Amino acid sequence: MSETIAERSDERPGSGPTAEARHVSGVSIRLDGVTKQYPGQRTPAVDAVSLEIPAGQIVVFVGPSGCGKTTLLKMLNRLIEPSGGTIYLGDEDVTGQNADQLRRRIGYVIQADGLFPHMTVGTNVGLVPKMLKWGKERVAARVDELLDLVGLDPETYRDRYPKELSGGQQRRVGVARALAADPPVLLMDEPFGAVDPITRQRLQDELLRIQEELGKTIVFVTHDFDEAVKLGDRIVVFDVGARVVQYDTPEAILADPAEDYVADFVGAGATLKQLTLTRVGDVELRQPQVARVGEDSAPVVRRAQAAGDQYVVVTDRRGRPISWPSLAELSRTSTVPDTVDEHLPVVGLHSTLNDALDTMLAASQGGVVVTGRDGVAGVMVVETVMAAIQQTRGEAQG
Ligand SMILES: Nc1ncnc2c1ncn2[C@@H]1O[C@H](COP(=O)(O)OP(=O)(O)OP(=O)(O)O)[C@@H](O)[C@H]1O
Ligand SMILES: [Mg+2]
Repeated sequence: MSETIAERSDERPGSGPTAEARHVSGVSIRLDGVTKQYPGQRTPAVDAVSLEIPAGQIVVFVGPSGCGKTTLLKMLNRLIEPSGGTIYLGDEDVTGQNADQLRRRIGYVIQADGLFPHMTVGTNVGLVPKMLKWGKERVAARVDELLDLVGLDPETYRDRYPKELSGGQQRRVGVARALAADPPVLLMDEPFGAVDPITRQRLQDELLRIQEELGKTIVFVTHDFDEAVKLGDRIVVFDVGARVVQYDTPEAILADPAEDYVADFVGAGATLKQLTLTRVGDVELRQPQVARVGEDSAPVVRRAQAAGDQYVVVTDRRGRPISWPSLAELSRTSTVPDTVDEHLPVVGLHSTLNDALDTMLAASQGGVVVTGRDGVAGVMVVETVMAAIQQTRGEAQG
């Protein structure tokens, strides 16, 4: 069923944390001459599109408003009936397949209002498994597993209603729900729109982390070219009628936009956009002193002093960073306090250098704590970002 492939390190030499063997559970999608002609419209919204989406990759759709992205996406799970053409999942022609059956194999995440307001978070997430007639206990276990996966503590959030969550938390629940029956394909139509930039960046990081674990085939629509570059293994640039203008890796599109129209879309700052290609995991991180909540403070302070550090990263019992006190602050308490700093600047290894800078600026701090799969992976200071920017510029000019 699932396999491990040597991942496309030949295509993305710079993307450290993703350039390893990756687990693939997704299937490929193939469109052959897919068309949608809405009744009463003179030209088709989607005009004979042929496209191949490889298994286990994130392919991002970008293009001007009204060019047919949503129509194309909804034809994949047949929320919209195609007027012509053939759609394959793997080797299987699904064009004539029962639409309800098909939708259970394809997770779907839409922008806002995707959750049923009168159902709890747990009920929302468990919806499809319940439809598939899983037993009660199996559904409950799956709900908790998924909430955990998207970074929401099940105990705290399972029984809340959607309106009792922040916008970002609602999006996480939306992703959890789409993943509930473990579908090989995930369709996401501007799922992270309308949240603030920092929340958006965290949601993107979470998605990349989840994808590293699950290896789904993900089709993701966005208006934000930076988001496309960050998330996409490949990007499809569409024009009106869902005409495919360019379909390539982010690197290739940035380096060589196919038409003036793509160059405009990519934007004048394309050289700086290259920064979006550099991941936090690609640069050298500093190893901070890490202390657990409840440890005696004195030895921690001595350890940090011996290492020449002014600050210590404090983690909770699960190894997640919660604060970043100075030695002076730490010396005032006998044990390492469990105070959670709500504004602690944290990024993941998949975050881009742009993200790291934004996070530092938002927190008014000169550094960020970097987390990996096993907790704290290091810290990065603003000087490291600046040095990397200068190096990128140098390479771009040279
Ligand atoms: N139900 C419908 N009936 C008739 N025309 C429609 C219908 N839905 C969409 N269209 C038209 O089809 C074209 C493509 O629409 P679609 O929603 O797929 O675009 P999009 O690329 O997703 O745009 P956006 O970026 O604004 O979300 C548009 O011209 C739109 O007006
Ligand atoms: Mg749309």
